[in-house]
Amino acid sequence: MEFKQVIKDRISIRKFKKQPVEQEKIDDLLATMAVALSASNRQKWRFVAVTDEAILAKLTVAAESRPPVSVAPLVFCICSTENEEVNDSGLNRGTIDGSIASTYLHLAAVDLGLGACWVGSFDQNLAAEAIGLPEYAKIISLFAVGYADESPAARSRRPIEEVIAYNHF
Ligand SMILES: Cc1cc2nc3c(=O)[nH]c(=O)nc-3n(C[C@H](O)[C@H](O)[C@H](O)COP(=O)(O)O)c2cc1C
Repeated sequence: MEFKQVIKDRISIRKFKKQPVEQEKIDDLLATMAVALSASNRQKWRFVAVTDEAILAKLTVAAESRPPVSVAPLVFCICSTENEEVNDSGLNRGTIDGSIASTYLHLAAVDLGLGACWVGSFDQNLAAEAIGLPEYAKIISLFAVGYADESPAARSRRPIEEVIAYNHF
């Protein structure tokens, strides 16, 4: 798909068909995240694709037992393996890098004809336990992915004048 079309088509999908996502597409999504940019090219991350029913059920509990995780045939856990480090501008590197990979994932899913939704509301400890996350790592996002079973209208954005500026804030 043409890049600008992917950007335009990307919306959050929270209802999915039961249809599983093909292994080829899962591999493609993982490969896309693996080439994402990261600070100093550190790549201090690990991307876990969850399709196992029992683990999905645990992630559902971690995500407040609600859609989109509760209805997704596939959930990615975007993990930072070094999430304590702060960069020169005082920001958490692992969270930034994991967010970049998450965004790559969402756009790549759209390109493959899949729906997806970023889930930031989840219990870190429960999700960590579900996937056997080591103590030094953190889950930056859960990403519910599947074939869309809804077609919501795109959400509006603030007027562009409110969010852009030239030269001064
Ligand atoms: C950091 C982050 C956390 C989010 N957490 C959740 C969440 O926990 N549950 C959910 O349904 N959507 C979540 N979303 C999706 C946003 O609600 C959604 O992207 C936003 O409303 C804009 O809608 P759109 O993606 O359809 O354009 C999250 C998005 C981001 C970027």
